Amino acid sequence: MRRSDVTQVIENERESYSHPWSERIFHDCLRVGYRAWVAEDRAGRVVGHALASIAVGEAHVLNLCVGRAARRRGAASQLLEALMEQVIREGAHVLFLEVRPSNKPARRLYAHYGFERIATRPGYYPAGDGREDALVLARDLAP
Ligand SMILES: CC(C)(COP(=O)(O)OP(=O)(O)OC[C@H]1O[C@@H](n2cnc3c(N)ncnc32)[C@H](O)[C@@H]1OP(=O)(O)O)[C@@H](O)C(=O)NCCC(=O)NCCS
Repeated sequence: MRRSDVTQVIENERESYSHPWSERIFHDCLRVGYRAWVAEDRAGRVVGHALASIAVGEAHVLNLCVGRAARRRGAASQLLEALMEQVIREGAHVLFLEVRPSNKPARRLYAHYGFERIATRPGYYPAGDGREDALVLARDLAP
């Protein structure tokens, strides 16, 4: 992800989440050096994005998102595979992420990639009628 991608990234972000990240958060992530990817369609339009952090052998998926019109065509899978390859190259042995229990598409995707539930964070996410728990998932990256 380049700084110039953020204008398109934010459109996909806003139509995908009830509580989307702001443009500023994306710029801050790039500035501090989080790993960040975009998926593009054949016309070069940004259809999805992923961000990760990595430290002392542990990586975290911070965001994974595909715009509505581009879903179910493998873009999230490509982003997640690129992310995993990169963090493995950088020495990560485990990858963590959080997901809403209500987010069936994402839970299916992560199950497909071998993520397992290791914990629950009560009331982690803002939700329309209060707060929603987060499921903490982990995927072993050891060869
Ligand atoms: C979750 C999300 C990233 C999936 O993106 P995508 O590009 O459509 O995913 P893919 O096409 O790579 O799908 C890979 C697999 O995930 C699962 N999956 C994805 N969307 C699904 C859905 N709507 N229902 C059921 N399973 C789904 C399927 O197993 C799918 O494989 P298949 O198409 O061969 O059945 C996308 O729906 C999204 O951006 N949602 C809003 C943001 C979000 O919730 N991000 C995750 C936060 S933790």
